[in-house]
Amino acid sequence: MAENAENTFYITTPIYYVNDVPHIGHAYTTIIADAISRFKKTTGAAVFFMTGTDEHGQKVEKAAAEKGMTPIELADKVVVRFENLWKALNIDYDYFIRTTRNFHEQGIQLIFKTLKEGGDIYKGTYEGFYCISDEYYLPEEVPFEKDGTKICPDCGKKSIVLKEESYFFRLSEYQDKLLAFYEKNPAFVRPQSRMNEVVSFVRSGLKDLSITRTTVKWGVPVPDDPAHSIYVWFDALHNYVTGAGYDWNLGLFLELWPADVHLIGKDILRFHAVFWPAFLMASGFELPRCVYGHGWWLKDETKMSKSKGNVLDPHVLLDVFGPDPLRYFLLREIPIGLDGNFSHEGFIHRVNSDLANDLGNLVQRTLTMIQTYLKGEISEGDDPQDEDIHLEEAFERTKKAVFDFYSEFSLNRALEEVWAYIGMVNKYLADSEPWKVAKDPELAGRLRRILHTAACAIRAIAFFVYPVIPQSAEKIWEALQEKGSFVETGYDGLEFVLPGLPRKTGRPEPLFPRVDLKEFLFEGKKGDVTAPKKELKEKTMATISYPEFKKMDLRVAKILEVEKVAGADKLLKLKIDLGTETRQIVAGIAQQYASEELVGKKAAVIVNLEPAVIRGIESQGMILAANVDGKATLAFYPDSVPTGAPVI
Ligand code: ME8
Ligand code: MG
Repeated sequence: MAENAENTFYITTPIYYVNDVPHIGHAYTTIIADAISRFKKTTGAAVFFMTGTDEHGQKVEKAAAEKGMTPIELADKVVVRFENLWKALNIDYDYFIRTTRNFHEQGIQLIFKTLKEGGDIYKGTYEGFYCISDEYYLPEEVPFEKDGTKICPDCGKKSIVLKEESYFFRLSEYQDKLLAFYEKNPAFVRPQSRMNEVVSFVRSGLKDLSITRTTVKWGVPVPDDPAHSIYVWFDALHNYVTGAGYDWNLGLFLELWPADVHLIGKDILRFHAVFWPAFLMASGFELPRCVYGHGWWLKDETKMSKSKGNVLDPHVLLDVFGPDPLRYFLLREIPIGLDGNFSHEGFIHRVNSDLANDLGNLVQRTLTMIQTYLKGEISEGDDPQDEDIHLEEAFERTKKAVFDFYSEFSLNRALEEVWAYIGMVNKYLADSEPWKVAKDPELAGRLRRILHTAACAIRAIAFFVYPVIPQSAEKIWEALQEKGSFVETGYDGLEFVLPGLPRKTGRPEPLFPRVDLKEFLFEGKKGDVTAPKKELKEKTMATISYPEFKKMDLRVAKILEVEKVAGADKLLKLKIDLGTETRQIVAGIAQQYASEELVGKKAAVIVNLEPAVIRGIESQGMILAANVDGKATLAFYPDSVPTGAPVI
């Protein structure tokens, strides 16, 4: 029916069920869509990026009943959780569709009615094994269990037998048309391996599809037959057309349709690559250009899913790190088509090595040198030498490769290219040694050239990473005092220059603080995949100066006597020798140390801490200990260290 305008790029995520709150799996799809849509905007495309929620059906009805709510109350509540997550992840969507909106319900009814009148929908009886969790009748080929039931191959739960009067969609009519379409459009399903799956499924034969339920109240009523409600998948898939204007804004619809890409997880490939195009063919709409089925995030080698309850709450990471580290990790760690296992160790490692070390240090180092050596002012300096020209040539190659990889959604490959380039820039600085050049006043022009070249490279790097880590990219551009946005500059407009020289640059905030894995403390037993119960600790505290540190009087003290504190099973009273005087200290170490273990030992003490009265006893200082979940471990000095030695 329509051929979308040349320049439009319409991209969608699945609309997520509101039976439960979002997790990292949902975040993944939406982050991919956001990165692609940001990239497309920099290429000059008029992007329309839509996400939303799937609010009807048995699953939501059941979840609401279990919580003692009406389905719409549950939906209203959970939608806010999705919206908040997208905000926290810096997701810049254009429209958020909810299937309970009037325009959508009316659109569905219109489509249903039209297909019924055209003969693609007819009334019959259906009996089959139905999975409530995934909201679909199991395919015939699923084998029987010993007790005569069938297990859902997707979620592993027992299905139920349903027999009902039902409206059917004449899917069998579309088998050949679909095969012909796949043949002509081999890139319709991506990655390629998924296309093969789809083709062999369709070749094995398509039966007509039951698309209404009498057992489900929470759904869009069938026009003129309200005892039936429209099957949630028939309802949900059509969000892609109702959200784009059908049939309440046909001008918009003509501009946007067909969608350029439906981004989905591989769990819902069949719905998008078989049923959906068949529905669209029946309605006479054009088919989407591409259905992209990405892999799954696993936890302990099984798919994270709400139904299984092994999900990770993204907010735990977002509250501590902000959006970019999680966005980067999810897109960098695995190729888009494959599955990946989520681990916090892997996450911390990526943040430290790629973001803090490679990128963060490069930016910090360069801008600091510009401040220190050039008073913050960048200008071109001497004519470029070979190594400067090489870095510019590498920029040109990187620009092309990154463009190609982003264009084909190989986000991890695009990032690999960028990080290879970051490595080159780091090496360029190491080789050209601006810190040495800065010492020779005769080389002032050379120094300017080196730092100018590095700044051009960093400006380009910020542009390259913008789709994936937009907040950090913007910080880098701000620090460089860059005018105009990434979209305004545009991919074609990106060059190895700093427009508007000379310019004054700022001193950058650290972009990504390093994180200590050990401080990244989680409560709960190992293998507990739910969200950490305790707030994550802040990674590092504010910096203090050496004179501030020197205000602490830290000394090696010898423990002379140890006594239990009456009525307090965690406390010990210690008499300690500081070399110049003896003192008493109260320490919460009674459960870890017996008196005999301590007498005669030497440990570090802060001597000038304001005295405190604990259980009626004055504590004149504090013994230093590692604190692991409130349990103390002391460090002892060897006997050769004199009592009273300063600790610095
Ligand atoms: O299926 N790894 O909604 P849903 C990667 N309402 N992606 C994951 C994931 C994981 N472990 N878990 C979920 C539905 N996803 C329907 C869709 S569309 C017309 C209707 C992502 O809430 C992935 O995109 O079960 C998957 O396809 C989607 O969430 C399923 O979300
Ligand atoms: Mg699902």
